[in-house]
Amino acid sequence: MAAAFTVISLLLSVCVQGAAPVLSFTRSDFPEDFVFGSATSAYQYEGAVAEDGRSPSIWDTFTHAGNMPDKSNGDIAADGYNKYKDDVKLVIDSNLEAYRFSISWSRLIPNGRGAINPKGLEYYNNLIDELATHGVQVHVMISQLDPPQILEDEYGGWLSPKIVEDFTAYADVCFREFGDRVSHWTTLDEVNVAALGSYDIGQIAPGRCSDPFGFGTKKCTVGNSSVEPYIAAHNMLLAHASATRLYREKYQAVQKGVVGINIYTMWAYPLTNSTADLEASQRFLDFYCGWILEPLVFGDYPSVVKKNVGSRLPSFRKVQSEAIRGTIDFIGINHYLSVYVNDHPLEKGIRDFVLDVAADYRGKAICHLIQDYPFTACNSLDTSLGLLIHSSSVTYTMAYENSTWYHMDQIIC
Ligand SMILES: *[C@@H]1O[C@H](CO)[C@@H](O)[C@H](O)[C@H]1NC(C)=O
Ligand SMILES: *[C@@H]1O[C@H](CO)[C@@H](O)[C@H](O)[C@H]1NC(C)=O
Ligand SMILES: *[C@@H]1O[C@H](CO)[C@@H](O)[C@H](O)[C@H]1NC(C)=O
Repeated sequence: MAAAFTVISLLLSVCVQGAAPVLSFTRSDFPEDFVFGSATSAYQYEGAVAEDGRSPSIWDTFTHAGNMPDKSNGDIAADGYNKYKDDVKLVIDSNLEAYRFSISWSRLIPNGRGAINPKGLEYYNNLIDELATHGVQVHVMISQLDPPQILEDEYGGWLSPKIVEDFTAYADVCFREFGDRVSHWTTLDEVNVAALGSYDIGQIAPGRCSDPFGFGTKKCTVGNSSVEPYIAAHNMLLAHASATRLYREKYQAVQKGVVGINIYTMWAYPLTNSTADLEASQRFLDFYCGWILEPLVFGDYPSVVKKNVGSRLPSFRKVQSEAIRGTIDFIGINHYLSVYVNDHPLEKGIRDFVLDVAADYRGKAICHLIQDYPFTACNSLDTSLGLLIHSSSVTYTMAYENSTWYHMDQIIC
């Protein structure tokens, strides 16, 4: 039942094994204002996990419990905390126009809320200055999968609505302290697969799941794969919306940055042209993309998600629905591959997200990856949203209109 991450593993092996692609495009094939950049995430990059007042995040706990297949951890990682100047030099020498990094919440605010760690503040200010003074656009991911362990212990992290207030206060500190030099803010990373990986299949921190839904042969000891992914994603959406509204009200007019969210996208091709598989492909996109994007654009979950998940899906109160709707200046996507989808009739009995989709899928291996810059093309229409996806091998629109997902040139936004 480890579909989401099977795909990721598949992708990684394809990327690693594949020969270097022949690049048949140049800078001039891209729009003038298209920005090339690179990105890192705090836990994978910084190291220095116990230096200068940082407290553990859920990833420190997870790796130190031996949960990585190779038993590795991020204690040193790329040592970016100490070597960021060398890395910014690499960014400049590569002629990259932008760099995105994520902020370690537990480095900036070690108690999760309240006092700011001056050393954490100094590190991010130094990094941002190093980029900005060299003319590199600064893109910031506010939290990339690594909330403070102290909040996990206190109220279960993303499983509690209490995190909305703490996340918003943390984001407020980020906007206030760094926003004068930041052009793009992404609140949260790969919200859809973050909720699945963390709370359905238990493959990433905090590693929660319930049997038989754990990744691979994982025995699940804590969690509930039937309900927790939906609760976590719900709270992530509320936290995103709250932080975005704060930015718009308090900072955007002066700082002139934009705020978005990031999801993991896969385009779904029907495995056969049977009606069942055609519907399964639509349902797959409703679950994987619509689950996160429709609340942000329309204020509610897709109807098929509501139908298949039933009472396990949290609902938005009217005031929440209105608060969420429209809180994206852009949609960041991590797009790695497309998949073939076939129908898998809805099972009776206990289901997790993967079974709720009622579809199986397999990778259609294409290694194309572009982050953050493709974005909403047509959300001015009340009934549609569109993602314009550029990559090294394809450019396509992925659009939603009249309850149907469209691909390629089937729809003009
Ligand atoms: C998960 O939560 C649901 C709804 O509260 C409950 O019915 C079910 O028994 C729980 N499953 C586990 C494994 O705790
Ligand atoms: C489904 O039909 C479309 C349009 O006729 C065709 O291009 C495609 O190859 C068909 N797919 C399969 C799996 O038969
Ligand atoms: C959606 O419906 C509207 C109104 O019926 C129609 O004008 C439009 O062409 C439809 N869009 C697509 C992509 O079929």
